Amino acid sequence: MGSITEQVDNIPTYPPSLQVPSVQEMVLKDPLEVPERYIRNEEEMQTKTDSSHLSSQVPVIDLSLLSNGDKEELMKFELACEEWGFFQVVNHGVAIEVLQAMKDASNEFFELPLEEKNKIAMPPNDMQGYGHAYVVSEEQTLDWSDTLIMLVYPSRFRNAKIWPTETKGFKESIETYSTELKRVAEELLCSLSLIMGMDKSALLELHKELVQALRVNYYPPCRTPDKVLGISPHSDTSTITILMQDGDVTGLQIRHQGGWVPVKPIPNALVVNVGDVTEILSNGKYKSIEHRAVTNESKIRLSFASFFIPLDEVEIEPLNHFLDSDSLPMYKKVKYGDYMRQSMKMKHDGKAHTRMAKTEF
Ligand code: OGA
Ligand code: NI
Repeated sequence: MGSITEQVDNIPTYPPSLQVPSVQEMVLKDPLEVPERYIRNEEEMQTKTDSSHLSSQVPVIDLSLLSNGDKEELMKFELACEEWGFFQVVNHGVAIEVLQAMKDASNEFFELPLEEKNKIAMPPNDMQGYGHAYVVSEEQTLDWSDTLIMLVYPSRFRNAKIWPTETKGFKESIETYSTELKRVAEELLCSLSLIMGMDKSALLELHKELVQALRVNYYPPCRTPDKVLGISPHSDTSTITILMQDGDVTGLQIRHQGGWVPVKPIPNALVVNVGDVTEILSNGKYKSIEHRAVTNESKIRLSFASFFIPLDEVEIEPLNHFLDSDSLPMYKKVKYGDYMRQSMKMKHDGKAHTRMAKTEF
């Protein structure tokens, strides 16, 4: 009997975000209104450092070649991780129907009336559910987006209270999509282990169990896209993140050589980025890259981020073989659960949250 309660009590929770209005609802009521608390200054928008001409250089990796041990593709992968920290993956083997079902069900969910979506609103003590993430003060500038966040794997971590039931087939779509993405992530982590000079299975073993969280981002259109941001600049606290972009609306921008490079959606490709855990393990060789999302004047944009992370108890620090006599550890040992929860108590502010793991000289 007690085991049911225990299981419910043992599912992870995360530092909550302050409650703020649904942006989607605001735009529905008055598409012209852009309240003050969403408006960014010119410095934050950084429109002057436009690096869109570099878009076509964002690496593209063929996962079937990579997973089959193709040496050339592994070299491309290593270059993509070291020089860009971001790349698109094609030939990943995930059926288009699976990708489409996830997009359709999510669109349907966000089209529900607010009261329906609020049935799985983030509770006051957790960052999982429908709402907003990383809002920690009434003063901070808000992102022009709404979000749905949940732990998907391991399945015993799922919080049934915030899993969507109103939209027919949404649960199943999340499940199928996430199972496929887990396979893609495992293949990528094998190759990442190899370029990090380890056995194929080393990174997966280091995670103890691969934890997978899903964040569905909904970016309503904004009449003044040059004054707001869909998601503030940040790096991900994950080991790797896999992002699916919906449709042909470009929104994601990555920090590269001081400018912002848009990642143009390739139909059915997945966008992958190196997260903080990989940066720490490699003592800064493979950096987690800052990214942000801009909004669009007329089109809604959805994106689906799957974060692959270790169990809370796993301790992260630079691996021995990344430290030689002249490279001091840039990071100290941190418990992953502490690192992630600490970062959730801060607003998204570039890589400011990584400071807690940095060594001081
Ligand atoms: C995220 C993220 C980018 C996007 O959810 O962490 O960076 O394009 N999303 O939505
Ligand atoms: Ni991100």
